[in-house]
Amino acid sequence: MAVPRPLIAGNWKMFGLGPAVDEARQVAVSLLAKPAAVRVAICAPATLVERLARAVEGSALIVGGQDIHQEASGAFTGDISAEMLADAGATMVILGHSERRSIYGETDALVAAKAKAALRGGLEPIICVGETLAERQEGRTLQVICGQVKASLPTELDGHAFAVAYEPVWAIGTGLTPTLEQIEEAQVALRQAMVEALGEAGRGAPILYGGSVKPDNAAVILKAREVGGALVGGASLKAVDFLAIVRAAG
Ligand code: 13P
Repeated sequence: MAVPRPLIAGNWKMFGLGPAVDEARQVAVSLLAKPAAVRVAICAPATLVERLARAVEGSALIVGGQDIHQEASGAFTGDISAEMLADAGATMVILGHSERRSIYGETDALVAAKAKAALRGGLEPIICVGETLAERQEGRTLQVICGQVKASLPTELDGHAFAVAYEPVWAIGTGLTPTLEQIEEAQVALRQAMVEALGEAGRGAPILYGGSVKPDNAAVILKAREVGGALVGGASLKAVDFLAIVRAAG
């Protein structure tokens, strides 16, 4: 499989009402005027997916969601399936974000089931892993994130487009970032774990870095070994900031 282009994905989390569509539209217009060397996605709240998909139609901007249920349909009040997200216009989905793992108790096995469901529904999954501050301080970072990757990536990913995102929990929304050495150590270890889990199929998928990526640190982070893009939270909410990160990626 050809090496995929890097991916810069915005995670809007539970932010955004109708007017936020304009921010996505600005990103799409900018990509039309000046195509980016990287793939660019916005993963929006489910309520905005269809509006975003319509607003950016015909542009290179990819629209994604932030979670799915593992079943295609059923009596699961409040949940949405991969098929529903795809029906609304999404082509990508974030899975196993640390907020879902810690707040909603999502396990590696559930994340793997959701990844299979994403493929079934035609969505490209971004599967997130990351250590807590306590785990880092105990010297267990690589053990934790490699264990998460091996248990969260189903073998069915072979032959499909997907990405892994390394997001240290303590770097999310805090303005703190690991050193470049720490990022590279984690990303290189994750690559090895992906190959151990999936064989050759684990070699091509991009490994994004996420956690306080901003316009002023993006260029440096994106040049680190095995960093194949970024998963951006707060700085993806404003088109001007998100575009600065996209342009920093080349
Ligand atoms: P911040 O960029 O706001 O730190 O969030 C990162 C994140 O959780 C993206 O999924």
